[in-house]
Amino acid sequence: MTDSPLSVPPQRIPLHVAIIMDGNGRWALQRGLPRLAGHKAGTENLRRVIRSTVEFGIPYLTIYAFSTENWGRPTEEVQGLMRILEDVIDRELNELHKEGVQLRHIGRLERLAPRLQQKVLEAVELTKNNQRLVLNIAFNYGGRDEIVQAVQKIIRDGVPAEDVTDERIGQYLYTAGVPDPDLIIRTSGELRVSNFLIWQAAYSEWYITPTFWPDFDKNEYRRALETFAQRDRRYGGVSDVVADKAGQ
Ligand code: IPE
Ligand code: IPE
Ligand code: MG
Repeated sequence: MTDSPLSVPPQRIPLHVAIIMDGNGRWALQRGLPRLAGHKAGTENLRRVIRSTVEFGIPYLTIYAFSTENWGRPTEEVQGLMRILEDVIDRELNELHKEGVQLRHIGRLERLAPRLQQKVLEAVELTKNNQRLVLNIAFNYGGRDEIVQAVQKIIRDGVPAEDVTDERIGQYLYTAGVPDPDLIIRTSGELRVSNFLIWQAAYSEWYITPTFWPDFDKNEYRRALETFAQRDRRYGGVSDVVADKAGQ
């Protein structure tokens, strides 16, 4: 089957897409499988989505893989998710590196097993000069935790109150230097932010689909991008069309 092309003008391709990969558990449940089978299928899908992201020419992708709240899940599931991250690094790192993907981790490393921490750091180090796609993996990530840490560091650095600006806070977040996400995709239909990029998402556009993450395919990704391209981003102002009319 040949792919239909993406009908989006280049200037309407988002610079940064962020994805809340949700619905693995329900995907598995629907098939009478254990939840971890859903997470494995989700990981397979991630590989395809990364590839499509490169193909679509999107330079930044952030994926939400494990939240600071996900520690509250049954131990077996938490351990399974840790194992999956380790497997992904073991199995995919060389390929991702070859494809020019720069891996970054956003979130807290401390609570992960030392061996896993080591692998994450090595993956980041190995790929740090790659330019084709910056892939932020949000693992043990929480938006509030990120802001709390930023504030603590700002105070420790002795930044004077009047210098605590929007930009300055941005420089203290994990995403320093990365443009804010233009488009956030959430699969599985939930209408909430679940502590993801709460600072950076101030003016992101949302695309929410009932599709469970393992089934979110290239066609649907393309649809998300085409929908995004139609959006009128006003940032609190008025749309260009309205502004032009007003000025006439
Ligand atoms: C998303 O799928 C993956 C993680 C949160 C790690 P879920 O595991 O949340 O799947 P549902 O929401 O229970 O279906
Ligand atoms: C958000 O999904 C976290 C990830 C996708 C990693 P959750 O499934 O944890 O979110 P809630 O619990 O439905 O808000
Ligand atoms: Mg979920």
